[in-house]
Amino acid sequence: MKNLSVWLCSIGLVMICSNVLAASAPPLPKKYTAWKKSERKIVTDKSSLFYGIHYIYADKKAVKGYQAGNRFAEGSTIIVEYFNLKAGADASVDGSRNMIVLMRKDKRAKETGGWLFAGYGADGKPSGLDPVTTCFGCHQKDAAQRDYVISTVKDFKH
Ligand code: HEC
Repeated sequence: MKNLSVWLCSIGLVMICSNVLAASAPPLPKKYTAWKKSERKIVTDKSSLFYGIHYIYADKKAVKGYQAGNRFAEGSTIIVEYFNLKAGADASVDGSRNMIVLMRKDKRAKETGGWLFAGYGADGKPSGLDPVTTCFGCHQKDAAQRDYVISTVKDFKH
Protein backbone atom coordinates (compact mmCIF):
# COMPACT_ATOMS: atom_id res chain seq x y z
CA MET A 1 0.00 0.00 0.00
CA LYS A 2 2.80 2.34 0.83
CA ASN A 3 4.47 1.88 -2.53
CA LEU A 4 1.15 2.39 -4.22
CA SER A 5 0.56 5.66 -2.39
CA VAL A 6 4.04 6.90 -3.22
CA TRP A 7 3.42 6.04 -6.84
CA LEU A 8 0.04 7.78 -6.88
CA CYS A 9 1.56 10.84 -5.28
CA SER A 10 4.39 10.91 -7.74
CA ILE A 11 2.08 10.89 -10.72
CA GLY A 12 0.20 13.80 -9.22
CA LEU A 13 -3.15 12.29 -8.26
CA VAL A 14 -3.25 14.65 -5.32
CA MET A 15 -6.77 13.79 -4.14
CA ILE A 16 -6.12 10.09 -3.97
CA CYS A 17 -2.69 10.69 -2.56
CA SER A 18 -3.93 12.79 0.35
CA ASN A 19 -6.79 10.37 1.03
CA VAL A 20 -4.41 7.44 1.23
CA LEU A 21 -2.13 9.36 3.56
CA ALA A 22 -5.03 10.62 5.70
CA ALA A 23 -6.24 7.06 6.08
CA SER A 24 -2.88 6.21 7.59
CA ALA A 25 -3.52 8.21 10.79
CA PRO A 26 -2.20 6.02 13.62
CA PRO A 27 -4.71 4.38 15.96
CA LEU A 28 -5.09 6.39 19.17
CA PRO A 29 -2.88 5.01 21.96
CA LYS A 30 -5.17 3.13 24.38
CA LYS A 31 -4.18 4.56 27.73
CA TYR A 32 -3.35 8.14 26.93
CA THR A 33 -5.69 9.45 29.64
CA ALA A 34 -3.16 8.03 32.13
CA TRP A 35 -0.42 10.26 30.65
CA LYS A 36 0.69 13.57 32.13
CA LYS A 37 -2.34 15.86 31.87
CA SER A 38 -2.46 19.62 31.45
CA GLU A 39 -4.56 21.97 33.49
CA ARG A 40 -8.19 22.24 32.36
CA LYS A 41 -8.44 24.82 29.61
CA ILE A 42 -11.61 26.72 28.84
CA VAL A 43 -12.11 28.87 25.74
CA THR A 44 -15.33 30.91 26.01
CA ASP A 45 -14.87 32.91 22.79
CA LYS A 46 -17.48 31.44 20.44
CA SER A 47 -15.59 32.56 17.36
CA SER A 48 -12.60 30.42 18.33
CA LEU A 49 -12.01 27.04 16.79
CA PHE A 50 -11.29 25.85 20.32
CA TYR A 51 -14.53 27.05 21.91
CA GLY A 52 -15.12 24.64 24.77
CA ILE A 53 -12.93 22.75 27.20
CA HIS A 54 -9.74 20.87 26.47
CA TYR A 55 -6.98 18.91 28.12
CA ILE A 56 -3.52 18.14 26.72
CA TYR A 57 -1.91 14.74 27.40
CA ALA A 58 1.84 14.10 26.99
CA ASP A 59 3.56 10.71 26.98
CA LYS A 60 6.88 10.20 28.85
CA LYS A 61 9.03 11.33 25.93
CA ALA A 62 6.89 14.37 25.34
CA VAL A 63 7.05 15.34 29.03
CA LYS A 64 10.85 15.33 28.74
CA GLY A 65 10.55 17.46 25.61
CA TYR A 66 8.41 20.04 27.40
CA GLN A 67 10.88 20.07 30.32
CA ALA A 68 13.72 20.69 27.89
CA GLY A 69 12.01 23.86 26.64
CA ASN A 70 10.09 22.24 23.76
CA ARG A 71 12.74 20.05 22.16
CA PHE A 72 11.17 16.71 21.44
CA ALA A 73 12.71 13.28 20.72
CA GLU A 74 11.49 11.01 17.93
CA GLY A 75 8.30 9.21 18.96
CA SER A 76 7.12 11.87 21.45
CA THR A 77 3.31 11.91 21.38
CA ILE A 78 0.89 14.64 22.46
CA ILE A 79 -2.91 14.36 22.40
CA VAL A 80 -5.63 16.95 23.00
CA GLU A 81 -9.19 16.03 23.95
CA TYR A 82 -11.95 18.59 23.37
CA PHE A 83 -15.30 18.77 25.16
CA ASN A 84 -18.38 20.91 24.60
CA LEU A 85 -19.30 23.64 27.02
CA LYS A 86 -22.82 22.93 28.24
CA ALA A 87 -24.98 25.90 27.28
CA GLY A 88 -26.20 27.81 30.31
CA ALA A 89 -24.89 25.12 32.61
CA ASP A 90 -22.14 25.12 35.19
CA ALA A 91 -18.88 25.58 33.26
CA SER A 92 -17.08 23.43 35.81
CA VAL A 93 -18.70 20.34 34.28
CA ASP A 94 -17.42 19.06 30.92
CA GLY A 95 -19.97 18.54 28.17
CA SER A 96 -19.65 15.66 25.77
CA ARG A 97 -16.38 14.95 24.01
CA ASN A 98 -16.33 16.35 20.49
CA MET A 99 -12.87 15.81 19.01
CA ILE A 100 -9.35 14.50 19.58
CA VAL A 101 -6.10 15.56 17.92
CA LEU A 102 -2.66 13.97 17.98
CA MET A 103 0.90 14.99 17.17
CA ARG A 104 3.70 12.42 17.06
CA LYS A 105 7.34 13.24 16.29
CA ASP A 106 8.11 11.29 13.13
CA LYS A 107 11.00 12.26 10.92
CA ARG A 108 9.18 10.94 7.85
CA ALA A 109 6.62 13.73 8.17
CA LYS A 110 8.88 16.22 6.41
CA GLU A 111 6.08 18.42 5.11
CA THR A 112 4.82 19.16 8.61
CA GLY A 113 7.99 19.94 10.55
CA GLY A 114 8.84 16.32 11.43
CA TRP A 115 5.53 15.84 13.26
CA LEU A 116 2.69 13.60 12.22
CA PHE A 117 -0.63 15.44 12.75
CA ALA A 118 -3.92 13.54 12.95
CA GLY A 119 -7.52 14.37 13.86
CA TYR A 120 -10.20 12.01 15.26
CA GLY A 121 -13.91 12.25 15.94
CA ALA A 122 -15.45 11.88 19.39
CA ASP A 123 -15.53 8.12 18.76
CA GLY A 124 -11.75 8.01 18.29
CA LYS A 125 -11.98 7.19 14.58
CA PRO A 126 -9.69 9.14 12.22
CA SER A 127 -11.56 12.10 10.72
CA GLY A 128 -9.40 12.09 7.60
CA LEU A 129 -8.35 15.75 7.87
CA ASP A 130 -5.39 16.66 5.74
CA PRO A 131 -2.54 17.54 8.12
CA VAL A 132 -0.80 19.93 5.77
CA THR A 133 -3.77 22.11 4.92
CA THR A 134 -5.75 21.67 8.16
CA CYS A 135 -3.18 21.57 10.91
CA PHE A 136 0.32 22.72 10.21
CA GLY A 137 -0.32 26.39 9.38
CA CYS A 138 -1.17 27.48 12.91
CA HIS A 139 1.55 25.42 14.52
CA GLN A 140 4.13 26.82 12.15
CA LYS A 141 2.94 30.38 12.69
CA ASP A 142 2.71 30.18 16.49
CA ALA A 143 5.55 27.84 17.41
CA ALA A 144 8.22 27.52 14.71
CA GLN A 145 10.81 28.34 17.40
CA ARG A 146 9.36 25.78 19.83
CA ASP A 147 9.47 22.64 17.68
CA TYR A 148 5.92 23.46 16.43
CA VAL A 149 4.45 22.68 19.83
CA ILE A 150 2.38 25.63 21.04
CA SER A 151 1.79 24.63 24.66
CA THR A 152 4.71 24.68 27.09
CA VAL A 153 5.71 23.04 30.36
CA LYS A 154 3.70 25.75 32.18
CA ASP A 155 0.47 24.20 30.92
CA PHE A 156 1.25 21.10 32.97
CA LYS A 157 1.96 22.86 36.27
CA HIS A 158 -1.18 22.50 38.28
C1 HEC B 1 -6.42 27.70 14.38
C2 HEC B 1 -5.05 27.23 14.66
C3 HEC B 1 -4.81 25.73 14.83
C4 HEC B 1 -5.12 24.73 13.96
C5 HEC B 1 -5.77 24.82 12.58
C6 HEC B 1 -4.67 23.49 14.60
N1 HEC B 1 -4.12 23.76 15.82
FE1 HEC B 1 -3.35 22.39 17.10
N2 HEC B 1 -3.14 23.86 18.52
C7 HEC B 1 -3.40 25.21 18.34
C8 HEC B 1 -3.19 25.93 19.58
C9 HEC B 1 -3.38 27.44 19.81
C10 HEC B 1 -2.78 24.96 20.53
C11 HEC B 1 -2.43 25.18 22.02
C12 HEC B 1 -3.62 24.89 22.89
C13 HEC B 1 -3.32 25.17 24.35
O1 HEC B 1 -2.21 25.57 24.72
O2 HEC B 1 -4.23 24.97 25.16
C14 HEC B 1 -2.73 23.67 19.81
C15 HEC B 1 -2.33 22.48 20.39
C16 HEC B 1 -2.25 21.28 19.72
C17 HEC B 1 -1.69 20.07 20.29
C18 HEC B 1 -0.99 19.96 21.65
C19 HEC B 1 0.51 20.30 21.45
C20 HEC B 1 0.74 21.79 21.19
O3 HEC B 1 1.17 22.15 20.07
O4 HEC B 1 0.48 22.59 22.10
C21 HEC B 1 -1.85 19.08 19.36
C22 HEC B 1 -1.45 17.63 19.50
C23 HEC B 1 -2.50 19.69 18.20
N3 HEC B 1 -2.73 21.02 18.45
C24 HEC B 1 -2.80 19.00 17.03
C25 HEC B 1 -3.46 19.59 15.94
C26 HEC B 1 -3.93 18.83 14.79
C27 HEC B 1 -3.78 17.34 14.58
C28 HEC B 1 -4.53 19.74 13.96
C29 HEC B 1 -5.25 19.45 12.63
C30 HEC B 1 -6.35 18.52 12.70
C31 HEC B 1 -4.40 21.06 14.59
N4 HEC B 1 -3.74 20.92 15.79
C32 HEC B 1 -4.84 22.25 14.03
C33 HEC B 1 -3.77 25.81 17.14
C34 HEC B 1 -4.19 25.12 16.00
